[in-house]
Amino acid sequence: MDVFPSILVDTFQDFEKRIRLVEKEAALFHIDVGDGIFVPHASFQDIEKISCFQWEKPFELHLMLKDPDTTVIPWLVTPAKRIIFHWEAKEGSHTWVWGLIRRIQAHGKEVGIALNPKTSAEKIYAFLNGIDAALIMSVEPGFSGQSFMPEVLPKIAALREKRFSGMIEIDGGMNEQTMKRAKDAGADAAAAASAIFDESNPQEALRNLSVL
Ligand code: DX5
Ligand code: ZN
Repeated sequence: MDVFPSILVDTFQDFEKRIRLVEKEAALFHIDVGDGIFVPHASFQDIEKISCFQWEKPFELHLMLKDPDTTVIPWLVTPAKRIIFHWEAKEGSHTWVWGLIRRIQAHGKEVGIALNPKTSAEKIYAFLNGIDAALIMSVEPGFSGQSFMPEVLPKIAALREKRFSGMIEIDGGMNEQTMKRAKDAGADAAAAASAIFDESNPQEALRNLSVL
């Protein structure tokens, strides 16, 4: 299973430090951005610094932002390979979802939709033929270091039953044990922070998780 180091930090110093620690081993970075509204904590989110960063590996943006139809737009200028927004972050009609999908694609980027633990997979069935990835949250979004919620795993099979051929990524509380469970459930990829960066040798930790 692909394991993407998840970067959820408050400062540019930590952003750079974590990326440089594991970039030799990483295939892609998962960059978390919280706004302090949709999620309780506002994380490092300097679009200019992220755009000018000397990236040696591709990255995806996990945008935990309220009203994604407008707040995602400034992120389109970054060199992100994929942009993931939250289905729950806007109330009301869903025509905005298609509008945003098209807008992200028009910038040559892949699109993903993230689902909070309590949101059913059904909510995004209508968009599966237009997106490249589904991000199944296995913790409430906002913080690293929370415990994995196994009850989200059936969403993977539900998406595959709908013939979703894109990438299914799981995010939150991933470690050796939960990674195995996610893999058995059919996930293609996982984002992980604590299981990598809380270890004494993050590069080795990432390597070990990637071969599970
Ligand atoms: C949570 C973030 C996750 C988080 C993962 O809001 O989306 O990507 O950083 O951290 P761990 O692996 O520690 O649960
Ligand atoms: Zn994330």
